[in-house]
Amino acid sequence: MSNRTFTMIKPDAVRAGHIGNILEKITNAGFKIVAMKLTQLSADKAGAFYAVHKERPFYQELVDFMSSGPIVAAVLEKENAVEDFRKLIGATNPAEAAPGTIRALYATNVGENAVHGSDSDENATIESNFHFAGCDMYAY
Ligand code: RTP
Ligand code: MG
Repeated sequence: MSNRTFTMIKPDAVRAGHIGNILEKITNAGFKIVAMKLTQLSADKAGAFYAVHKERPFYQELVDFMSSGPIVAAVLEKENAVEDFRKLIGATNPAEAAPGTIRALYATNVGENAVHGSDSDENATIESNFHFAGCDMYAY
């Protein structure tokens, strides 16, 4: 699945009304949306999604934030999707994100940083399957 990645528009950006602007940046960059939904993570689901960060000092804050309101979850398709999408969203800390990137434009701070992007092909598959059944991902 090297041509696919998984993203979430995080609760801060949804609350601020940035869903449309962020989806426009994503599609203008050549990504095709092959699955998408508005949903809200329970604390348990947010904890499971970010389990890799369990030992990090920001874990509880991250779980609380990610379950604090609705998110948009989506699977995106493009050649070299994982790497190109990480470039489009910019650095984790918006203060370090390149100008024009989604985080530079819409993130609040290092914790509330507007979007998630998978960090490897393997995780893109795991994360897509976490949120979507195979039959809810559409090739077109
Ligand atoms: P993401 O997984 O959400 O795409 O973000 P990322 O790869 O750029 O960053 P990662 O290291 O995976 O961290 C996951 C999320 O945890 C929150 N975080 N807070 N307070 C802090 O120092 C801190 N560091 C990370 C952010 O929401 C980050 O996106
Ligand atoms: Mg990450």
